[in-house]
Amino acid sequence: MTEPHAMIELRAVSKTFVHDGRDVDVLRGIDLDVARGEMVTIVGPSGAGKSTLLHITGTLDLPTGGVVRHDGEDVTRLSSRRLAAFRNRHIGFVFQFHHLLPEFTAIENVMMPGLIQRSRRAPLRARAERLLDEVGLGHRLTHRPSELSGGEQQRVALARALVMEPPLLLADEPTGNLDSAASEAIHQLFFDLNAAHGTTFFIVTHSRELARRMPRVLSMRDGRIERDEAGSAYHERASFPGRSRPSEPPSEGATRL
Ligand SMILES: Nc1ncnc2c1ncn2[C@@H]1O[C@H](COP(=O)(O)OP(=O)(O)O)[C@@H](O)[C@H]1O
Ligand SMILES: [Mg+2]
Repeated sequence: MTEPHAMIELRAVSKTFVHDGRDVDVLRGIDLDVARGEMVTIVGPSGAGKSTLLHITGTLDLPTGGVVRHDGEDVTRLSSRRLAAFRNRHIGFVFQFHHLLPEFTAIENVMMPGLIQRSRRAPLRARAERLLDEVGLGHRLTHRPSELSGGEQQRVALARALVMEPPLLLADEPTGNLDSAASEAIHQLFFDLNAAHGTTFFIVTHSRELARRMPRVLSMRDGRIERDEAGSAYHERASFPGRSRPSEPPSEGATRL
C-alpha cells in the first residue's frame, strides 16, 4: 500500500522579507515532496535560499505563501504551543555551530532535550549513552565541550538531535567547520543512522563529497529549485561544467580573449 501523502510536502512555498522598505523574494514557489526515509541534500550558491527553505521546512519560520505539510498536516496553521510540541517529537536540528552548553558534560548535553521535556530519566540516559556510543564517543561521556575536538563536539550535537528519536533530521551545513576526516566521519554516520533507524535526512551542504553520495540532490538558485537529481548525476555534471560545449585547447598563437 502506498502512503497517501509524502512525509514532507511543500506547495507553492514562497518567502519574502522586507528589507529597508523593499521586498526581497527569497523563495519563489517551491514544490517538493520528501518521502519517509529519504536522504535529500540541498546545494547552491550562498544567498540562494537554502537555509530559509530548511527553516521553513523545520517550522522554525513561516512562509509568506504556500503550504508546508508534515504527514499530511498543514503545520503553518498550528499554534506556537502545538508547533513546539510537534517540533520536539518530529524534528532534530543540527547546525554549523553546535551550540552545546559549555558547563554540561557530553551525556548531559545529549540528554538535555529530554530533560527539558521531563522524559523519564533512566531510558533517556540509556538512549543518550547508546547514541554517543553510535557516534563513536562512548569513551567521552563525561567530557565537557571544551575537552572535545570540533568533530567530537559536532558528533555530540548530532547525538543530541537524535535523542528524542525524531523521524526527521534537518541539518544546515553540519560539517562546514570541520576538516575532511571529521566531515567524512559525520557523513558516514548519516548513512548509518538512515540505514539503522530509517531517519529521513534533509541536509544543506557545501560538501561535494557528501552531495556525490546522496541519493537525491536539490540544486537551488535565486529562490528556486533548479534541479532535482541523484547525487551521482549531480557530481558528473558539476565535475564537467563544459560538457555540453567541449572546450578545445587553444592552438599555438591563438588570441587569448
Ligand atoms: N531576515 C531577513 N531579512 C532580509 N533578508 C534576509 C533575511 N534572511 C535572509 N535574507 C536574505 O535571503 C537570501 C537567502 O538567504 P539564505 O536562505 O540564508 O541563503 P543560503 O542559506 O542559501 O545562503 C539572502 O540574500 C539573505 O540576505
Ligand atoms: Mg545558509
